[in-house]
Amino acid sequence: MKVPVILIGESSDALTALRKQLEREPDFLVDGKIHSCDDAFQSLKAKAGPVLVIVDLSQNPERAFDTAQEVKFKLHNVHLLMTSPDSRPETILRAMRSGAEEFLTQPLHWPDVLNSLHTIRKKITIQHAKPSEQGRIITVFSSKGGVGTTTVATNLAVALAADKRTSVCLVDLVLQFGSVTSFLNLEASYTIVDFVKNLKRIDPLFLDGSLVKHMSGVRVLAEPFHAEDAARIETADIDQTLEALLQAFKCIVIDTPKEFDETTFVALDKAHLILLVTEMDVPSLKSAHRALELFDRMGIYQKKIRLILNRYVKSKYMSLESVEQTLGVKVFWALPNDYPTAIAALNQGLPILDTEAKSEIAKSYWGLANVVAERLHSSAEPQTDLESKKAGILGRWIPSLVAVRKGEL
Ligand SMILES: Nc1ncnc2c1ncn2[C@@H]1O[C@H](COP(=O)(O)OP(=O)(O)OP(=O)(O)O)[C@@H](O)[C@H]1O
Ligand SMILES: [Mg+2]
Repeated sequence: MKVPVILIGESSDALTALRKQLEREPDFLVDGKIHSCDDAFQSLKAKAGPVLVIVDLSQNPERAFDTAQEVKFKLHNVHLLMTSPDSRPETILRAMRSGAEEFLTQPLHWPDVLNSLHTIRKKITIQHAKPSEQGRIITVFSSKGGVGTTTVATNLAVALAADKRTSVCLVDLVLQFGSVTSFLNLEASYTIVDFVKNLKRIDPLFLDGSLVKHMSGVRVLAEPFHAEDAARIETADIDQTLEALLQAFKCIVIDTPKEFDETTFVALDKAHLILLVTEMDVPSLKSAHRALELFDRMGIYQKKIRLILNRYVKSKYMSLESVEQTLGVKVFWALPNDYPTAIAALNQGLPILDTEAKSEIAKSYWGLANVVAERLHSSAEPQTDLESKKAGILGRWIPSLVAVRKGEL
């Protein structure tokens, strides 16, 4: 497939020369127009498939960085390259943090340029391979703390990994105070901070070294050692981390914080399946209801959301049906309430499945893993937002997120 290329920059000689070279390349389809920062976003919004975008920083770097970030953050189909005569480490670092996959120093050396373009083209080919060849992301989320999100994420990951054909990576995106390693009694030597630092050189060997291996076979991408390091991880880093893991694992399970920030948003947006965890009390249900409303406003594809009712007990005051009525969604799975088993497993750093294999809760987790696996591999599986949403919804990302931060949504 020919990969479309869009050039962005203000009256740039480097881009004009680049366009001429690209016109001769059989694997790339360069847009005849060099776009200014002002019209770049509108032109890109109309493009549906993967597109390679080269942004020239040489004329007005601040404006170019803003444009690049906007494009990269709002449009998931964009693969970004940046070019500049300024090749100071801080400029290159800033480019990478803005989501650039490659940096081209000016004056441009055509063989290097071609090399970079082909590297990205290969990535695009892998990422757009048939769905069955790609990994799947399951994001476990709750807008209320303490309802069992981490318990669900860890136990589900372990149960999914029991099928040895399914490679599973469990990602702790609770970046400040994650607890996945405690739940599984793991000692991490590397964390997501190291992973992000080395995103450029990810290969099977590096992956093997930077993920902690649990005896179940689950690989864990651990939370940062220090809470303050969370701030060093940017949204684009999370996006690229998940992309890299998708190439290596069949299944990625993500534990998320209850806060709906950019990090959580990427995890929800990229998910093939969202497990929204709630308990059966009024505050939890109210919170779940608000989360569902927020998902809707943020354009998160409704059909990929599944409701998990944790600590379910039969009660004459509240039934499964009444929960479904209140929330307007079906309960996908109800996990029974068994605090002694859950807390004993937690305090030993073991999955519930290993401590009390015969308990109702362990059986329930096996059942959940089965239906999740079925759902992920069925042809009617939910789509990612990218595949399903209209450009108009994607365009609402940034304003909506800003509004969330301001408390307007
Ligand atoms: N089905 C269950 N029955 C009884 N107790 C449970 C069940 N699932 C989880 N728990 C217990 O609930 C508590 C909270 O669980 P967990 O830490 O997974 O919640 P969380 O939503 O991740 O919390 P946080 O907001 O702190 O991250 C733990 O003590 C856990 O053992
Ligand atoms: Mg948790």
